[in-house]
Amino acid sequence: MYILGIESSCDETAAAIVEDGKHLISNVISTSVKEQALYGGVVPEIASRRHAESISGVVREALEKANCTMDDIDAVAVTYAPGLIGALLVGVNFAKGLAFASGTPLVPVHHLRGHIASNYISSDVKPPFLCLVVSGGHSHIVAVNDYTDFEIIGKTRDDAAGEALDKAGRTMGLAYPGGISIDKISKQGDENAFKFPHPKVTGSKYDFSFSGLKTSVINTVHNAKQKGEEINVADLAASFQKSVVDCLIQNLEKAGVDKNFKKIVIAGGVSANSKLRREAEKLCKKHNWQLYLPELKYCGDNAAMIASQGYYEFISGVTADESLNAYATMAIDKPYEKQN
Ligand code: KG4
Ligand code: ZN
Repeated sequence: MYILGIESSCDETAAAIVEDGKHLISNVISTSVKEQALYGGVVPEIASRRHAESISGVVREALEKANCTMDDIDAVAVTYAPGLIGALLVGVNFAKGLAFASGTPLVPVHHLRGHIASNYISSDVKPPFLCLVVSGGHSHIVAVNDYTDFEIIGKTRDDAAGEALDKAGRTMGLAYPGGISIDKISKQGDENAFKFPHPKVTGSKYDFSFSGLKTSVINTVHNAKQKGEEINVADLAASFQKSVVDCLIQNLEKAGVDKNFKKIVIAGGVSANSKLRREAEKLCKKHNWQLYLPELKYCGDNAAMIASQGYYEFISGVTADESLNAYATMAIDKPYEKQN
């Protein structure tokens, strides 16, 4: 079964064709990240405009590269939530038009479910498993009981891990996206040079909090500036990255042990982080758990992951009609509900 996936929730306009949720046929991504970098972060208006300009070309290219026409496509899967609302609407409206004009079923896909599905393309992993989903907008520990059955075990109370890394990177004067810059520069730094507080979260022992950590790094930079002291940015970046990764890994370990999972999956943009990947490997070795990491090319936003999850949603009976809307927020465990 061929699924055409469409993704436009942030600054990547993407289309891909995936067979049976697993085999990549084509994968096209156009990104406005360079333009967004000029502003130090994603400007939603610019993202929407670039999506509107590029989406038809990106989808056409995905079909051409796969040597397909719409007649070969069994369903059109599109990210409908969560994300920047104007950006999401471009993809949703395009997918609606394409699906109804060609008489192809339309399948709504949750962006984070998509991130998790990037692992179905990268490996042979099958649910049930425990997944750490870490992106620019979300940090979750999710029990993936089945392809369309999700249970939130823990989540961030404030900033997402990627958001904290991006903001810290900006404060350190590093290029956007800060997460990537911090990963790069940390390789030359001493991760024990600075000590950051380990945030305590009351309530769920699996929840995260990154805003205190972020404020702490911002204060460190500002205090040094006021005193006219030089800060070793590589040391600061490495220490901050270590704190963020430690928080993620500690909660993942607690959840894995308590819930008795033997398979651990990491997903989302931050899953590209080299320190996180190393520490996840160590953790899984320690407990004799099987670890699955997406290939680096599928860590960031792409449409292959949307096509993959779209396949599982479609075979479980999830389709949308012309009432499909886009939503800036949406819980990962919430099933899609038709509007009319
Ligand atoms: O999943 P994603 O591409 O978009 C969202 O759904 O948000 O995640 C983007 C986030 C950004 O915060 C970016 O800095 C972070 O992923 N990121 C990284 C790395 N590559 C991307 N963070 C740490 N290390 C990386 N190598
Ligand atoms: Zn994402």
